[in-house]
Amino acid sequence: MQQLSLLPQLTDNYEHLARRTFSHSGVCEDGARQALDARYAGLFEETDKFNRRLVSFQANKTETLHSWVKYREGFSAALVELLISELGIRAGDTILDPFAGSCTTLLTAKMLGIHALGVELLPHCHLAWRGKSAVFDYDLSELRMLRDLIETTDPPPTRDAFPHLAITETAFPIEAEAELMRYVRWFEMLEISELAHTLLKMLIMSILEEISYTRKDGQYLRWDRRAGKMQANNAKRIEHGKKPVRGIHKGKLPTVKQALLESFGKVIYDVTRLQTDPPLESRQELLFGNALYVLPTLDSDQIDGVITSPPYANRYDYTRTYALELAFLGVEDGIFDLRQNLLSCTVENRSKEEMLYGTYRSLGRADFCEETLAAARRNAALSEINAALRERDRLGEINNRGVLSMIDQYFIELAFIFAELYRVCRHGAKVVFVNDNVRYAGEIIPVDTLSTSLAESLGFIPRKIYVLPQRKGNSSQQMGRYGREELRKSITIWQKP
Ligand SMILES: C[S@@+](CC[C@H](N)C(=O)[O-])C[C@H]1O[C@@H](n2cnc3c(N)ncnc32)[C@H](O)[C@@H]1O
Repeated sequence: MQQLSLLPQLTDNYEHLARRTFSHSGVCEDGARQALDARYAGLFEETDKFNRRLVSFQANKTETLHSWVKYREGFSAALVELLISELGIRAGDTILDPFAGSCTTLLTAKMLGIHALGVELLPHCHLAWRGKSAVFDYDLSELRMLRDLIETTDPPPTRDAFPHLAITETAFPIEAEAELMRYVRWFEMLEISELAHTLLKMLIMSILEEISYTRKDGQYLRWDRRAGKMQANNAKRIEHGKKPVRGIHKGKLPTVKQALLESFGKVIYDVTRLQTDPPLESRQELLFGNALYVLPTLDSDQIDGVITSPPYANRYDYTRTYALELAFLGVEDGIFDLRQNLLSCTVENRSKEEMLYGTYRSLGRADFCEETLAAARRNAALSEINAALRERDRLGEINNRGVLSMIDQYFIELAFIFAELYRVCRHGAKVVFVNDNVRYAGEIIPVDTLSTSLAESLGFIPRKIYVLPQRKGNSSQQMGRYGREELRKSITIWQKP
């Protein structure tokens, strides 16, 4: 692996990025958080190289291949390319993304002939991966034939119903749902290659939002006021003398056929272009499951770099935002399990400590589990944040007590992830985490420096904290009560010595 030119140098011009206060109006002790910012101030660097567009999925929206399935929580291929080159990763090396999402890291690796391993909990990401990663294997003439078939054929009627979850009921206009199910059934019956079947399923999944009365919007699935569920709710509200909820209006929705043809056209265009110039052969694999239980099963000392972005500690519930896609894949009751297995980023997450103990005991590594937990529990900033949130709760300022355990568990679980990454990385390997700082009840949680201090206590050498020039705002609730505070959005880089 090439030596990273930028990383080992300490920069001293960026101390202004360090914060002086973390507790609004000085209500709670914040000395440990201040100490972390002071400790790592020399690692901060504000750079335009990684702008907000690159760090979000925005830049992927028009990217060849990456745009086949929209993933709002993703980062961009351009960011991964930059990080790969900055980390000195080359063809033949192996990188890992334990929170693979739409697999931007794995796909970018594939294009560069780099081996890659990913872990992802949610099944819709796996379907997206299967569809996209086969880009060099599709038979173009079969794809073109299928596209023409869709254009010229009306799929036969079916009585199949969309496998709704309670939270997705009435998400589609009645005619759209019937049309959707006709395509699903018809595609299943077509005598075509396995790869083409997977691609068609991925295409259907990729248009669900577009043809529905819903829109993914950060933490929520927003609903169009024409949806049956919205109308029923509003009728009840009016009956009780309340104002109806406005809801969004998505305008004229495309038909399933229109949406499918458009996505398929894009896929065929990309496959045609990419197949003319395939990259070097390399291996990528996406493992199913919870990274907390999958990473411990991997061999030690095999990874040359990690590029990842975990769910942020912002209460976003992926199982709700992606409910349509998960319902389509038939998760039904499994959705509760998936939610509980998310890295603790929602107020509903319960402690996974027992499960972690069980996993490590069964692998004969109970000591590792205890040591990791002890390292996290010794972290002064985490203890301070837990105490501050308890105090804010006592003052009646926390509107959902689930935030307290969410924050604590989020960092405990991250500590396990960091400890495992340390173990699976080779000496000299670098680990990149993209994450956002957050604020609850006026208490700023410096996710970047706290993660860095946990990683350091587990053996990593902190190398860099890149801070995005346009920092994040706050939720309107936090703004109203505690004023506006810029929160860092950062890329932290650590190295295994
Ligand atoms: C911020 S997104 C990553 C997006 C990715 N960088 C991309 O470009 O698409 C975080 C991902 O972590 C997944 N995730 C959450 N908890 C997980 C867990 N315990 N194990 C594995 N994956 C998890 C989520 O489903 C989500 O896809």
